[in-house]
Amino acid sequence: MQKAEQLLLADRLLDYIERQTLQLSDEVYRQPVAEYTDRAQAAREHTVLFRSQPLCVGLSGDLPAPGHYATHDAAGLPLLLTRQEDGEFRAYLNVCRHRGARVAEGAGAGRGFVCPYHAWRYGLDGRLIGRPEDAAFAECDRADHALTPLAAAERAGLLWVQPTPGQPLMFSTHLAALEDELAGYQLAHFQPFGTRTLRRALNWKLALDTFLESYHFCVLHKDSICATFHHNLATFDSYGSHFRLVTPRRTIAELRQLPREDWQVLPHVVVIYVLFPNTVLVWQGAQVELWQIFPDAADPTRSLLQLTLYTPTSTITEKARAHWQRNLDLVLHVVENEDFPVGEGIQRGFAAGAQSHIVFGLNEAALAHFHQSVSAATGS
Ligand code: FES
Ligand SMILES: [Fe+2]
Repeated sequence: MQKAEQLLLADRLLDYIERQTLQLSDEVYRQPVAEYTDRAQAAREHTVLFRSQPLCVGLSGDLPAPGHYATHDAAGLPLLLTRQEDGEFRAYLNVCRHRGARVAEGAGAGRGFVCPYHAWRYGLDGRLIGRPEDAAFAECDRADHALTPLAAAERAGLLWVQPTPGQPLMFSTHLAALEDELAGYQLAHFQPFGTRTLRRALNWKLALDTFLESYHFCVLHKDSICATFHHNLATFDSYGSHFRLVTPRRTIAELRQLPREDWQVLPHVVVIYVLFPNTVLVWQGAQVELWQIFPDAADPTRSLLQLTLYTPTSTITEKARAHWQRNLDLVLHVVENEDFPVGEGIQRGFAAGAQSHIVFGLNEAALAHFHQSVSAATGS
């Protein structure tokens, strides 16, 4: 984020703190409960949001050097992400062109892939370069049996994949505005510290809603993060369907003691980007959390969340490792033990017929924006 933008954000936040308010939206938003439970809606979301536009599948540091690869399955698709010899990011479906076995598991580095079933061999570039008993497949041209490529790109240190074979990358035009800002964080220099995958009994949007307001901070999180962050206070800015929330730490008051030109704003805030539809990128101190939130294809009341904590490359001492581990544990503790149990209770309550709608207040503008964007995209 540019320095000038940081200063403007600090001005806004200090003003909100002084007036004990935040920017309010014009009207209460009534969100249909069915959006979290309906199978037809889930099917529309699957097609429109999860198979027709680029999905963020990680940070550049997940593929740190040529030859590295990583599998990715959270999207309900077997993805194989690779760093080519020339450094280019390419993605394939992790599906052998003989009889369909997965050609790679986990992550690692090498010159290519050998299918574990009958040992067909693929180059890092996806080409089929060898197969035992080759004469038995003489009618099947090797060139026609390369790994199936997916359009892929690396932008602002983020890895993006178009999830349907044959489709070109279809970025929303609004990502461009955000891209400049994201580039300022130099995300390409971050490395994954740890990843956790959570499967929870709540709709993917309900899981994402968790991140979209600080109105609950000193209620639900009164014993954890309330002491660190201001309650019910954040800036909200949208970039088309994408958006940004900035929540101040209580330490932001220290800025008032310094000349404005000396302000270092980022240490005093948490910046949350929602990269529509399902990625939450959290900048917090020097660490980056990437949340990838996916629906369960078979059940709209379940979701799969993948959290990766990324850290600056220089932090490899034992002391630093202990620090990042504590941070990862704290994030997981708050979300797993405080946010998601409430979310799962909400999901069960939706099925009880108490109400047809829930409400987002004037102080919950990001929630309204997110759900309006989903509705606009899916025609619901
Ligand atoms: S399925 Fe891969 S070699 Fe047979
Ligand atoms: Fe929370």
